[in-house]
Amino acid sequence: MADTRPLLLFDSGVGGLSVLAPARALLPGAPLVYAADSAGFPYGTRSEAEIAARVPALLGRLAERYKPRLIVIACNTASTIALPHVRAALDVPIVGTVPAIKPAAEASRTRVIGVLGTQATVRQPYVDDLTARFAADCTVLRHGSAELVELAEAKLRGEDADPARYRAVLDGLFAQAAGERIDVIVNACTHFPLVEAELAAAAPHPVRFVDGGPGIARRIAHLTQGQSWPDSPAPGIAVFTAQPDPALAPALAGYGLDQIETL
Ligand code: DGL
Repeated sequence: MADTRPLLLFDSGVGGLSVLAPARALLPGAPLVYAADSAGFPYGTRSEAEIAARVPALLGRLAERYKPRLIVIACNTASTIALPHVRAALDVPIVGTVPAIKPAAEASRTRVIGVLGTQATVRQPYVDDLTARFAADCTVLRHGSAELVELAEAKLRGEDADPARYRAVLDGLFAQAAGERIDVIVNACTHFPLVEAELAAAAPHPVRFVDGGPGIARRIAHLTQGQSWPDSPAPGIAVFTAQPDPALAPALAGYGLDQIETL
C-alpha cells in the first residue's frame, strides 16, 4: 500500500517556500504540507526563549494533525535556536536549516563573505561555530534585517517595492569594513532567496548568493530513500496559525499549495 504521509515544512511565514521548491523538484510525488506560523511572525525580532518555547509546541500540534513522515524546519531562526528542543519533543525525523556558511566559504575567492539573516539568527553562537569550523580564513560580515523579511512577504502578496529598500538592506553588509570585497552572500533566512533577483540587482557589484534549500532537498531525499510515495499526490496544503491572507493564494498555488487551512 502506498505511503501517503506528507512532508511537513515549517516557517514563520512564506520563507520556507524557498526550501519547498527544490524539495518538490527532487521529490515530485511527495505530498506536501506547508505550515506558516503567521500568528507568531516575525520570528527574527523575538527572543530566544520565546522561539524555543513556541516552535516545539506548534510542531507537536502540526504533527498530530498531519502525521508527517518527516518535518523540515524551513527557517534559520527557528532551527538555530530550537532544533534540539524540537528533536527532544517529537518522535519524527527533523531536518533543520542552518546558514550555508560552508558552501559560501568554498565559493569565495576574496575570502570576504556576507551573512544576511534575521537579527535573531545572526547573533546565534551557532553562526560563530559554523564560521570557526568552515570559514576560519574568511572575514565573515553579518547583517540582520527584518525589513528584508517584510519585502519577501510583500513580493509573494504581489506587491512591488522600491529598489532603494533593497539597496539600503545590502548597505548593512557592504558599508562594513572590508564590505566592498564581499563576493558571496549567504541567504541565512529562508525568506531571502525569494527576493534574490532583487538583491542581485541592488548589489554594488556582482556577488554570488548561496542558501541551504538545495542541500536540504537532497537531505530529505536521502532520509526518505526506499519509502513509497502515492502515485498521484493529494494537492499540497498550506496551513496558517492566523487567518490566511487571500493575497497569498496565487503564489501558494504556484508552489502546488492549492488547499489553504487554518490551524
Ligand atoms: N524565514 C525565517 C528564517 O529563515 C525567519 C523570518 C522571520 O520570521 O523573521 O530565519
